[in-house]
Amino acid sequence: MDAAYKRVNGDHQPEAEPGALALRKRRGSYLEEETNKSGMITCIFSLKEEVGALAKGLRLFEEKGINLTHIESRPSRMNKEEFEFYISVDSSCSQAIDEVIDCLRTQISGHVHELSRNKQKDKVPWFPNDIQDLDRFANQILSYGSELDADHPGFTDQVYRARRKEFADIAYNYRHGQTIPRVEYTEEEKATWGTVFKELKTLYPTHACREHNRVFPLLERYCGYRPDNVPQLEDVSRFLQSCTGFRLRPVAGLLSSRDFLAGLAFRVFHSTQYIRHSSKPTYTPEPDICHELLGHVPLFADLGFAQFSQEIGLASLGAPDEYIEKLATVYWFTVEFGLCKQGSEIRAYGAGLLSSFGELQYCLTDKPKLESFDPEKTSLQKYPITAYQPLYYIAESFEDAKEKVRKFAATIPRPFSVHYNPYTQSIEVLDNNQQLRNLADSISCEMGKLCEAMRKME
Ligand SMILES: [Fe+2]
Repeated sequence: MDAAYKRVNGDHQPEAEPGALALRKRRGSYLEEETNKSGMITCIFSLKEEVGALAKGLRLFEEKGINLTHIESRPSRMNKEEFEFYISVDSSCSQAIDEVIDCLRTQISGHVHELSRNKQKDKVPWFPNDIQDLDRFANQILSYGSELDADHPGFTDQVYRARRKEFADIAYNYRHGQTIPRVEYTEEEKATWGTVFKELKTLYPTHACREHNRVFPLLERYCGYRPDNVPQLEDVSRFLQSCTGFRLRPVAGLLSSRDFLAGLAFRVFHSTQYIRHSSKPTYTPEPDICHELLGHVPLFADLGFAQFSQEIGLASLGAPDEYIEKLATVYWFTVEFGLCKQGSEIRAYGAGLLSSFGELQYCLTDKPKLESFDPEKTSLQKYPITAYQPLYYIAESFEDAKEKVRKFAATIPRPFSVHYNPYTQSIEVLDNNQQLRNLADSISCEMGKLCEAMRKME
């Protein structure tokens, strides 16, 4: 571990005792430790698997008058005879929790890891420094893929729910650098994909932006985009990496906006792998593989759009919660539901539009309201999530949208700037002279190449 790495990590991760820091380095072991909600103290303790053990532990909290705001359990990965409990309490219990932790250590368990405690109100929220840090998000999903709402078309279909769990498990166990497991889609699933694929393809020439239409034939040629075949995430991810360095990683459920946006900073897109319920092929209440592969993927293969998306992700790193909400809204009105000018026409580039036969037609009619994309204003706009959008924002171009997002990002109150280093696939925090010199050297070198190339072309 070099000095710079230590400094960057030391400055911006949640404060934790040395034991917790060591755990953090064991990839895939303890992921919840990054749940650093403002005003919360979180810790994990383990107990021997025996009747009454948990009651004994909880009694300690009760005796100190501590109200647990969250508790989760799972079999210990370290010791098969133990169970682990992850708890959160309000930070106003700071002193009492110290006493409980002591008691847990000395009287009951011996294994307690305090994970986060906000000592400063204005502390920079944790963010991933390294692309492998994204592995921690896998366990921080807001809902598991097989948990469906009562109004979901597959709610009462046990076969569909079991299938959703298979997909969720793939994602839950996936780690950066692994090949995304290939899925044998059933005939029913392929038929659903085929219906969506054929319908949307008829609209793309007249409704999709030129970048989408340029990439789509390449996906048909190289990634198995066909009506009778659901493309594999691994093949698509490899294709994207060769175009723009973007890659896909499977996700088991809904991520928080902060985590999802952080992925974009590394040019990583968290993608679902399951498909919508076959009873309603033209409707899905949540993102599915049709939405990801038909809506998002073609644009991530475009350099300008890839940079624009990464810019939103970089802006989110270490941003305060209220700015995460604003950036998520900017993401909604661009990457999900954006329109852009192309010559004298307006075309769709948002994935929510490009994956919805109905809304793709509707968005280019005179029914919705249209306004120019302006992150300051757009980031405050309220929107419906279960109906067609009443308002769309139009970008002049991806380049223009990127510059606007960059300017908006500069207004986010955080005491540093960040830079993505594609060679190390890590985030460099630009908050000291050496970091600035390194970046200046790198830019100078690239500028030299640009000038030389321009001279030769003259
Ligand atoms: Fe999406």
